[in-house]
Amino acid sequence: MVTIAHISDPHVGSPYFVPNLMNRVIVELNELGPDAVICTGDLTNEGYRQEYKNWMAYAERIESPILTIPGNHDARNVGYLHFEDLIGPRHWTTDVKGVRIVGADSSEPDLNEGQIGRERYPWLREQFAVEADLKVFALHHHLIPVPGTGRERSTVMDAGDLLEVLITSGVNIVLSGHKHVPYVWRLETMYVANAGTVSSLRLRGYTKPCYNVLEFEGDEVKIHRRFPFGGGDTIAHFSLSSGAQHHRKSEPPVQERALASE
Ligand SMILES: [Fe+2]
Ligand SMILES: [Fe+2]
Repeated sequence: MVTIAHISDPHVGSPYFVPNLMNRVIVELNELGPDAVICTGDLTNEGYRQEYKNWMAYAERIESPILTIPGNHDARNVGYLHFEDLIGPRHWTTDVKGVRIVGADSSEPDLNEGQIGRERYPWLREQFAVEADLKVFALHHHLIPVPGTGRERSTVMDAGDLLEVLITSGVNIVLSGHKHVPYVWRLETMYVANAGTVSSLRLRGYTKPCYNVLEFEGDEVKIHRRFPFGGGDTIAHFSLSSGAQHHRKSEPPVQERALASE
């Protein structure tokens, strides 16, 4: 079995960042011992070097290999230079036990909106033109609108073209963050899994800080949502060959849940 933890949007430096949450998640990740931890951006709040350094102090305590891409907050104040300097390349490809994982920076300096951009499509196609048991693409912004996130302005600006590139490249799973609301969509044969904020109270509606754990074995993929300090559920379970969903979370739509809580 391959286990990949997906954390996102820690927002170190934000007044809403909660060190206790991050410390707890580090303990839980080290207990889980996944083959890799993917962090889909917004490590910092303003892209300042000291915020990056504070994030690194947390990230270095995670024992599994950690794969990181920047978010829009990390690209503020020319923070992408600190990302490259302290964390690594903003675009990368890696293989984890037969799983090909490609990460790409969708941020634009000082903008909340993002894109991958047509110049990068040939590179993306090339990275996925290999035999792999599972193909995963990670970016910060949404690829498909996520319910319960308010006015839609969070999908990458080239979402249509990018969706086509990814689906025709045989990508199985897309991981993203940004609006701090966990959700899973299926489009054709591809699953798009969004993670919440792992360690901040920058929350929309009644969502809670959380992270995802992806388990892959044979033909089956499961995605679990976990809440720091306990609790969680399975938000997707599907088979790769048929694309069939074995499980669809049976809770009411996000808006109805919000109304029920009022
Ligand atoms: Fe964020
Ligand atoms: Fe973001």
